Amino acid sequence: MTKTLLLDDNYGKFSGLTLHEMISSEQIQNRIKEMAIEISRDYAGKTPIMIGVLNGCFIFFADLIREMNVQSEVDFIKISSYANETRTSGTVRLLKDISCDITGRDVIVIEDIIDSGLSIDFLRRRLQDSQAKSVKFAALLIKDYTELDFEIDYTGFTIPDKFVVGYGLDLAQKMRNLKSIYYLNQEGH
Ligand code: IMP
Ligand code: MG
Repeated sequence: MTKTLLLDDNYGKFSGLTLHEMISSEQIQNRIKEMAIEISRDYAGKTPIMIGVLNGCFIFFADLIREMNVQSEVDFIKISSYANETRTSGTVRLLKDISCDITGRDVIVIEDIIDSGLSIDFLRRRLQDSQAKSVKFAALLIKDYTELDFEIDYTGFTIPDKFVVGYGLDLAQKMRNLKSIYYLNQEGH
């Protein structure tokens, strides 16, 4: 049975639109276990620094590191490319930099979703200038039309061109607590 949610009057211009379940919480958890196994295998005997990209990553990040069986250190970076909209603004701003020293360290950047690719490209450039020993990227979701000139090392799901919310991802800062991932039906109901 597909789950549907109706956005009430608190959602401004999105009010009256519906959300439909795209990936169930069980599917998410199963995939995260597989990703954690792969990462743990690749980093056996190492202690990577996991850098979460705020805010959207926080739930995925917490679930992923708890499924991993290698030790990791954690840190966060905060950037912004969306301004309460469902499309990128085209400019990436660094709102909070990492706090730890990544010199000589294995780094894994943890993103919730890759859409235009602007954000992850910005992060890659930023970390390229650092003296990290290695830098890899993990993303729970990537949109099927995204074009990047480098590889994402660990991907959860490739999804169609829809705006999605839940499991950390927001719609105008709300809906992050949903356990499944839903897509916004922008053509009405
Ligand atoms: P990009 O720079 O266009 O690749 O977008 C990256 C960031 O925008 C992600 O880290 C998310 O925070 C946000 N974003 C992109 N697509 C979606 C979406 O469908 N739902 C919610 N947030 C999104
Ligand atoms: Mg994000």
